[in-house]
Amino acid sequence: MTNKVNIYNKINSFNKKIYISGDKSISIRSVLLASQAIGESRIYNILESEDVLNALKTIKKLGINYKKIKNCYRIKGYGLNGFNTKKKISINAGNSGTLARLILGLLINSKNEVTIVGDKSLSKRDFSRVTEPLKIFGANISSNKKKLPVKIFGSKFLRPIKYTETLGSAQCKSAVMLAALKTPGITKIKAKKSRNHTEIFFKNLKIPIKVLSKKDYDYIEITGENNFKGFDYTVPGDISSSSFFIVLTLLSQKSQLTLKNINTNNSRIGIIKILNKMNANIKLTNKKKYKGELISDLIVKSKRELKSINCPSSLNSSAIDEFLILFLVAAKARGVSTFRDLGELNKKESPRLDIAINFLRKIGIRVIRFKNNIKIYGNPKLNLKGEYDMKNFRKDHRVFMMSCIAALTLGGNWKIHDKDSINTSFPTFIELIKKIGARVN
Ligand code: S3P
Repeated sequence: MTNKVNIYNKINSFNKKIYISGDKSISIRSVLLASQAIGESRIYNILESEDVLNALKTIKKLGINYKKIKNCYRIKGYGLNGFNTKKKISINAGNSGTLARLILGLLINSKNEVTIVGDKSLSKRDFSRVTEPLKIFGANISSNKKKLPVKIFGSKFLRPIKYTETLGSAQCKSAVMLAALKTPGITKIKAKKSRNHTEIFFKNLKIPIKVLSKKDYDYIEITGENNFKGFDYTVPGDISSSSFFIVLTLLSQKSQLTLKNINTNNSRIGIIKILNKMNANIKLTNKKKYKGELISDLIVKSKRELKSINCPSSLNSSAIDEFLILFLVAAKARGVSTFRDLGELNKKESPRLDIAINFLRKIGIRVIRFKNNIKIYGNPKLNLKGEYDMKNFRKDHRVFMMSCIAALTLGGNWKIHDKDSINTSFPTFIELIKKIGARVN
């Protein structure tokens, strides 16, 4: 079967209501935390994408069994010392930085040597950002020049650490938090603001945690070695996956979309704040709190007059996975948009800042780059006529999906390669765009 899609038509007007699959960050965290609980956890609406399935395979390899009954994953944990590895094992995290980094935190007390490997893209990413703090706990960790494979051999003599996280990376913060869970004493973390699902989960599971929120940093204290019981959890819809549909609607003609049950945690809704500053008027309704997470329905309407933005870098972390799709909106907005301090974007599944700049230039948009800051010269009349062939983007799922949205809203004849990349985070993406009227083959 061919692994590319052809899109030769813009999408027609639509008015639909859709459900988006479960949040990836929360799905992975729920699996990993269930593996540490005492007793059975029941998790509903897990995202069944490769990253999350790799998390399930990982805990299985570490001796934790699970079964799927209807739409519920039942995971049986044996507490904080419940991993059971008889000999040296290797874990393949596939494409998932979140899994590879967070599992290292949980392996801080591993009795045997565990080697973490990943796919081509993950093998190019930096791991020193987690191995360095984990070493201070006392674990034995080695990497291949800061990259995978990373080998970890836990220690019986763990000590709590004081750690300052300056990248605004929830993966680093969470790896340290999970290590703290298994370490005696109080671990103290000062972390630049980033998504806080791990903190919310800890509170919800009554794991002793204190969080003091200041303007740019959170101060977190975790008391380790406290077991917790199995739990029930229903994963809300993923705002990052929603972002492609939000932009599809905004840039289409006379359309409206309701996205049901989406996680709208403040640390994740940078995309909505940025788009609303650009004149988008996305509404959050039916707001409710579920186990500490805010869940809402989103209502989006097409918008003809989008305006440029001078995007404050304080919003970077809460929109970190959405910049590719945001740049597309900037390309169609009136005026020059500025985005700053986006160095972290080049550390993702592909060098997204470089790829986005090439992409925008290819579709005729002027872009100026200065270090990790960019200016995008928007063109509200942008209407593509040419042939576009998208390939060689390191199979980055978000580059693939952003390209599909460009094809469906800006015109032109597109061939977009590496369709199977969507299995990483959003396997039903093509099915869903077709459901709202996209012609894709
Ligand atoms: C994630 C954190 C972000 C994000 C990634 C998921 C998480 O990465 O880009 O897709 O689940 O913690 P960083 O923490 O490296 O910024």
